[in-house]
Amino acid sequence: MTLKDHWNAAYRKTTPVQLGWHEPNPDPSMKLIRSLNLSRYAEIIDVGAGVSTLIDLLLEDGFQNITVNDISPVALDLLRESLGKEECNVEWMVDDLTAPTILKQLPLLDLWHDRAVLHFFTSDKDQLAYFNLLKQKVKSKGYVIIAAFSKGGADHCAGLPILQYDTTMISQRLGSDFILKESFEHTFINPNGDERPYIYTLFQRK
Ligand SMILES: C[S@@+](CC[C@H](N)C(=O)[O-])C[C@H]1O[C@@H](n2cnc3c(N)ncnc32)[C@H](O)[C@@H]1O
Repeated sequence: MTLKDHWNAAYRKTTPVQLGWHEPNPDPSMKLIRSLNLSRYAEIIDVGAGVSTLIDLLLEDGFQNITVNDISPVALDLLRESLGKEECNVEWMVDDLTAPTILKQLPLLDLWHDRAVLHFFTSDKDQLAYFNLLKQKVKSKGYVIIAAFSKGGADHCAGLPILQYDTTMISQRLGSDFILKESFEHTFINPNGDERPYIYTLFQRK
């Protein structure tokens, strides 16, 4: 089974609100994004968005240039349906962050947002591909928000092993061109009532 098949099956198996990572209110991400006072025309990508409720909120806030990526076309079809007519304001990119093709056409970005995606890339090769794309696409003064499972928390998600992160690990992978602006721990309670501690990080490129 390919990774794409794995994720498509996960999104077919249950409803979006029952997914283990379903976040009814993406408050930690929205708090960080609103603190940036971005222009409504800012180029924003949510990578590995799945069926995230974040996109609806970004549209409500008036953002005009949102790109949504995922490896799973099933997830993005569900998200597109849930947005209704607002979906025409979104650019859709089904592509693999670790072997990007369509993603190479992205414009230069003001904001790269990732919740619960990077931690699945356990090999050096996949991490390198992810960070190479990010570094090619985030503009000078642009922002990066990465939220990943933190140290001491769960070691699997969606039936896959994950790599637990702390702020230093993310900072090292981004390199000295990215300045840490904020980081905090957030314990997400999943739909089964289990605790899933995350580290949230916000960086700005020099
Ligand atoms: C745990 S879910 C998180 C979804 C969403 N970010 C959220 O917070 O609700 C991980 C997502 O990453 C996507 N994904 C996994 N590997 C990927 C890859 N190589 N490229 C793009 N998306 C990927 C999955 O399809 C899934 O939607």
